[in-house]
Amino acid sequence: MLDENTIPLITVENMKKYYPVKGGVIPHTTGYVKAVDGVSFSIMKGQTLGLVGESGCGKSTIGRQLVGLEKPTEGKIYYNGCDLSAISRNKEQMRQIRTKLQMVFQDPYSSLNPRKHIYEILAQPMLYHHISSKETVERDILRLLDMVGLPRTVLGRYPHEFSGGQRQRIGIAKALSLNPEFIVCDEPVSALDVSIQAQILNLLKDLQKELGLTLLFVGHGLGAVHYVSDRIAVMYLGKIVEIGEAKEIFRHPVHPYTRALLDAVPVPDTAQKNQERKLLKGEIGSSMEPPEGCRFHNRCPYAVEQCALEVPGLQRVEEKSTRQAACPVVLADKKEAAHG
Ligand SMILES: Nc1ncnc2c1ncn2[C@@H]1O[C@H](COP(=O)(O)OP(=O)(O)OP(=O)(O)O)[C@@H](O)[C@H]1O
Ligand SMILES: [Mg+2]
Repeated sequence: MLDENTIPLITVENMKKYYPVKGGVIPHTTGYVKAVDGVSFSIMKGQTLGLVGESGCGKSTIGRQLVGLEKPTEGKIYYNGCDLSAISRNKEQMRQIRTKLQMVFQDPYSSLNPRKHIYEILAQPMLYHHISSKETVERDILRLLDMVGLPRTVLGRYPHEFSGGQRQRIGIAKALSLNPEFIVCDEPVSALDVSIQAQILNLLKDLQKELGLTLLFVGHGLGAVHYVSDRIAVMYLGKIVEIGEAKEIFRHPVHPYTRALLDAVPVPDTAQKNQERKLLKGEIGSSMEPPEGCRFHNRCPYAVEQCALEVPGLQRVEEKSTRQAACPVVLADKKEAAHG
């Protein structure tokens, strides 16, 4: 019998998103920002995939394609086995599916109309998509407020009358209001106070369990992402460089970039003393003209000549594990160590 955890809700195949760059006196396309450049992964039903990487590597772009805010330049997105590009012409079917795919933003202000109070913000989409009727909408909204831990008295208040953490709770309530199956959480705690961050992360974890949600959780650092994720994908300049079980990646990162990301997490002096920390040098390159070969080679402490010539593909790290990494140099060393 198939285990629930082995059925993917979302499958992405070779997704590319290129944004044209205009220049010249008479504006014309002078190049492309390759924000996402050939990315494939699956997210199992009821699980969370964490997506990490430096600013500009393409995380939000992937999120936007997944919830249908933009269309990929190339590649396929399957939701419950259904090819989203194939049904995008059927407006009614697409509208129904769009309600199942929601997004929570880093800055909830951007998704909350400042001129409307909370009741209107939540009621409008619920009525429009026939989730609630005029008779039941208030009851349903109160239930949502209970779920996200906001007092029922906030209904008549406007977005600016809340703290950052409370506003993010409203952002989560808004995403939940359409009974989604899948939510992209795009750095939902990055703008919040550290103590509030933990509350929101716990809320997301609890809601996921309670409602059986599937999540893509986007973040910069491995710390928060590791806490909420079943699996993690590490991105560098539009490509996934390592993907696998969150615990494995956090404990034994394989790709040099993942190691550098972990080394960048501040640790107390005592724990740091005997540890060699390899912090990243330089900036993440340009998505318009990414380095030839492995995109990370010019910042990589382990790079050899071959890294500037060949684009590495994802390879299994160990036979028994589902983890994959795109670094033939480290993987060859690992194999040698295992046989030697
Ligand atoms: N609409 C757009 N038009 C042109 N370029 C874009 C557009 N959206 C994103 N980009 C570019 O695509 C690349 C990836 O952007 P994206 O926002 O996905 O990065 P990110 O990983 O989410 O970064 P951050 O962590 O800062 O949020 C960047 O170089 C960005 O400038
Ligand atoms: Mg982003």
